[in-house]
Amino acid sequence: MLARSQAKGDAVSGDKILLTGGAGYIGSHTAVALAEAGYAPVVLDNFSNAKPSVLERLEMILGVPVALERGDILDRAFLADVFTRHEFGAVIHFAARKAVGESVARPMDYFETNCCGLTALLRTMEASGVRNLVFSSSATVYGEPDVFPVPETAPRWHTSPYAMTKLASEDLLLAMADADPFWAFGILRYFNPAGAHESGLIGEEPDGIPNNLMPYLAKVALGELPHLNVFGDDFPTPDGTGVRDFVHVMDLAEAHVSSLRTLLDGSGGHAVNIGTGEGSSVMQMLASYGRACGRDLPWKPGPRRAGDVAKLVADPSLAASVLKFRTRRTLDEMCESSWRWVTRNSR
Ligand code: WQD
Repeated sequence: MLARSQAKGDAVSGDKILLTGGAGYIGSHTAVALAEAGYAPVVLDNFSNAKPSVLERLEMILGVPVALERGDILDRAFLADVFTRHEFGAVIHFAARKAVGESVARPMDYFETNCCGLTALLRTMEASGVRNLVFSSSATVYGEPDVFPVPETAPRWHTSPYAMTKLASEDLLLAMADADPFWAFGILRYFNPAGAHESGLIGEEPDGIPNNLMPYLAKVALGELPHLNVFGDDFPTPDGTGVRDFVHVMDLAEAHVSSLRTLLDGSGGHAVNIGTGEGSSVMQMLASYGRACGRDLPWKPGPRRAGDVAKLVADPSLAASVLKFRTRRTLDEMCESSWRWVTRNSR
């Protein structure tokens, strides 16, 4: 194990950045943003929730191959070997399970992958002297907030085993940073990621019937599903349907680069919301997707979905001040990019 004093220097532009779960939806888009910012992304993935073809798509976008390490985040020997063969300036940790409903049915799988996977990674980073980690967290740690827009100081609590694992992970990182200044952590609490890279070559590709609104709408627009079921039209919101802070996946990707730069320039760790600060309702998203695909999409009102809150919108001001980050893409651009992706990918 490297002594603390031998910890490798921090990454500079051009250095390797490890993306665990880097072939996934957010990870693959972040690989593009990192490469475009001059870093060298290395993707680590077991392809349990992503396709190997994503690597070819990344090469088509970037013009150069992206290094791949295929294996499981829980495999300590595999991780040690990867960190022996690469000198990473930092790690961005996406590899986790993220379906709220599934986490209720399979809590142990979620704690094993999300929490034990994180500690396996941290042990390997510590042994290799890699001190910078950007962690993929979620607005779900706010449970059902009663303040809007939601600031980072809002109470955190869990509404599902998935949320429990994100809370436990955040608290572990905060405790480690308090205990040892060796560590620098960037915790990013995503609100509702949506959309796809402008090329239409990478995007969200959930298995089966999508749980989330935009990929479900995409299948309605393709004619693969008959209509959208609107989960509740009696919420205390302007049109009665749920309101969320949808953030373009490429804005989210660029937020990871901002977080990484903030860690590397010594400005220290942070825990920030990544959202637009603007709420959009289900019906507004439905209308926007209709504009993107060129036709009004069929929908039916239905009962509320268990666990859904009426409204969840970020206060993005801390990310603006700490990371100098602001989102810049619109809801229509999210829908247009999603439509380009699904029409190009569904052939
Ligand atoms: C958005 C709105 C639904 C589908 C989830 C997770 C969260 C995070 C992001 C991981 C809500 C409505 C949806 C449909 C609908 N994931 N809706 N019909 O629930 O805000 O967040 O994904 O970190 O942890 O909870 O996103 O897209 O599922 O729902 O009416 O077929 O669309 O009721 O108001 P959500 P969502």
